[in-house]
Amino acid sequence: MRTHSCGELKKKDMGKKVTLCGWVQKRRDHGGLIFIDLRDREGITQVVFNPKVSKESHRKAHELRGEYVLSVKGKVSKRPRGTENKSLPTGQIEVLASKLEILNRSKTPPFEVADRAKALEDLRLRYRYLDLRRRPMQKNIMLRHRVAKAIRDFLDRKGFIEIETPILTKSTPEGARDYLVPSRVNPGRFFALPQSPQLFKQMLMVAGFDRYFQIAKCFRDEDLRADRQPEHTQIDLEASFVEPEDIYALIEEMMLYLFKTTLGAKIKRPFPIITYQEAMNRFGSDKPDTRFSLELIDVTGIGKKSDFRIFKKAVCIKGIRVPKGEKLSLKEIKELTELALVYGAKGLAWFKVTKEGLKSPIAKFFSEKIGSSLIKKMKAEESDLLLFIADKPEIVNEALGQVRLALSKRMGLINKKEYNFLWVIDFPLVEFDEEEKRFKAMHHPFCMPKEEDLGLLKREPLKVRSKTYDLVLNGVELGTGSIRIHDSQLQKRVFRLLGISEKEVSSKFGFFLEALDYGAPPHGGIALGLDRLVMIMAGRETIRDVIAFPKTQRATSLLTGSPSSVTEEQLKELQLKIER
Ligand code: AMO
Ligand code: AMP
Repeated sequence: MRTHSCGELKKKDMGKKVTLCGWVQKRRDHGGLIFIDLRDREGITQVVFNPKVSKESHRKAHELRGEYVLSVKGKVSKRPRGTENKSLPTGQIEVLASKLEILNRSKTPPFEVADRAKALEDLRLRYRYLDLRRRPMQKNIMLRHRVAKAIRDFLDRKGFIEIETPILTKSTPEGARDYLVPSRVNPGRFFALPQSPQLFKQMLMVAGFDRYFQIAKCFRDEDLRADRQPEHTQIDLEASFVEPEDIYALIEEMMLYLFKTTLGAKIKRPFPIITYQEAMNRFGSDKPDTRFSLELIDVTGIGKKSDFRIFKKAVCIKGIRVPKGEKLSLKEIKELTELALVYGAKGLAWFKVTKEGLKSPIAKFFSEKIGSSLIKKMKAEESDLLLFIADKPEIVNEALGQVRLALSKRMGLINKKEYNFLWVIDFPLVEFDEEEKRFKAMHHPFCMPKEEDLGLLKREPLKVRSKTYDLVLNGVELGTGSIRIHDSQLQKRVFRLLGISEKEVSSKFGFFLEALDYGAPPHGGIALGLDRLVMIMAGRETIRDVIAFPKTQRATSLLTGSPSSVTEEQLKELQLKIER
């Protein structure tokens, strides 16, 4: 139906007879002339209706409204001097219409299809197809396509083959609730949607496929946030006979290739590696943003010697030095304190560093000697602000880690153009769940403990580290992976440690343990969140902006109105009853 897209006509096309199809972005009447900005996915071209060129089309053009769908025939001509639009690639030319066909009309859209979204997100989600017409959204979705394509190309070249795994399956424990699907032919029984393809990819290694990948949909019924959706997409991969270093090298090379081909951006290799313990100690986070410093410094020894009651009896005191932080107002410090309280801290002590020493409402509890030891330890200089939290180490790290992030924004320390990759490794195998009073896998139960820590499995499980590695980009957990347990006996020991009964193990994972007994090779892998990756590459703040049809924070689709009720008939077939 068309000869060109709306984004491609340039000066060199002058004089050509063309046919364009697209949507009316804008209509302007100027005396005798009508101007239309015609839009398609590739761009915008100005079309001019002049009664001297075609009386008929000019008459029809009066009817046009935003989002009408048109076919326009005409001649490419140079825009009159002074009317060029430098911000458009087609801004040098316009099409003088000789024929106009209205292919479809549109109701007045509930919001303008403009580059800047002014409508509330709920309305945008309700009319997602209109929201997706906006150029930034089109860019995001097309970037997502290019990212997936580049990854497929890269992994294919590296000998990875894409294999689909089932959506109707059995629960895989990734730490969230399962989405369940009732089976009509097996009443009373349910499939679980996969939280990840974890067990299948491991069984593909047992099956000898050597290198697997999949751009896989994963389903998790969990509390949603800006970077969490009930269904998300993973770049999931697994390889046999590998060490962690093989995975680091592969993923680093993949990221270099990906950022170069899709964004023209240069990424530096190798990515820094830090241990979980070091990440927690220095940044108070297992996904530290290392684009800025503001590191956490332990001052327990010095603080305890002060006369400040809270510090004297503290088990852990840590601080952050904020260079030039004296400019923060009392109100801003109060806001930071409130943030710390949200994360369990009981307060946030602060000092301004002046010529005369430390200034603070609690300075009187700190002798000159202790004050100068603090300054020395914190490597502080005049006009800095020092912030401290005293508490249990876990609370100090988490709360101060959050204060650190808030400070980076407040002090404008983040370079938005930077891509800061980091490996965080050696996570503890398990953590203790205070509520359920049992050990929980830090990642999932299939991660291999470090050989040198195996002896601690029984006596001091919290000290066992696993062969795990997280990929962090700009403070976002982009992916997690590990070397897996390939020995069924060890796997059983880990299940036991997690308090999963023998019976539960055999009903939930019997098939998997059996697979390990038929010559499972040593193997390992990783899964990267595609949504989060594209979000960062597109410079967005939420993954909803890079998913064509996302769910709301309440896990609903405003577009389709799902989830929705079903008929009595359907429930009956499934032998289900709803209790109201
Ligand atoms: P994990 O559970 O860490 O690991 O998931 C891997 C990556 O997937 C992304 N991700 C999500 N993205 C959006 N919404 C969600 N709800 C969501 N949940 C996870 C994150 C995360 O880092 N099977 C293991 C991987 C492995 O061991 O190979 C797994 O699923 O970017
Ligand atoms: P208070 O004596 O409770 O009024 O606290 C005096 C100052 O110490 C306030 O600025 C509090 O925010 C701070 N503070 C209180 N508890 C702690 C704590 N556990 N760690 C760090 N600072 C604290």
